[in-house]
Amino acid sequence: MSQSSHPSSNRPSSENVQRRCILVCQNRSCVGGGSEAVLAALQTTAPEGVLISASACLGQCAAGPTVQVNPDNVWYCRVKPEDATDITEQHLRGDRPVERLLHPRFHPRFDATNYS
Ligand code: FES
Repeated sequence: MSQSSHPSSNRPSSENVQRRCILVCQNRSCVGGGSEAVLAALQTTAPEGVLISASACLGQCAAGPTVQVNPDNVWYCRVKPEDATDITEQHLRGDRPVERLLHPRFHPRFDATNYS
């Protein structure tokens, strides 16, 4: 059997949601910024099948609370508990990362104010 005929090779987007794993840093700096509440909020709002996991330091302490969504390799910074709904609806259900939360170190953006 060739790999292209494997039933998992052409899954619809809704099934991709179930393969995601979200890491929420629970190290000192992020906890100081409220990451325990972020973890709890994501555990409440995320679709069934998404793994939500506390993690050790993700190396982005100055921009915490830090959240990483895999396998997308999307990094969110300064996440607040109230952001969990947008992460869930836009990213996990809609496959569109929440732009306002993207960590600029990993997701640099064009800044129009530099070109005015
Ligand atoms: S303490 Fe959270 S990224 Fe380092």
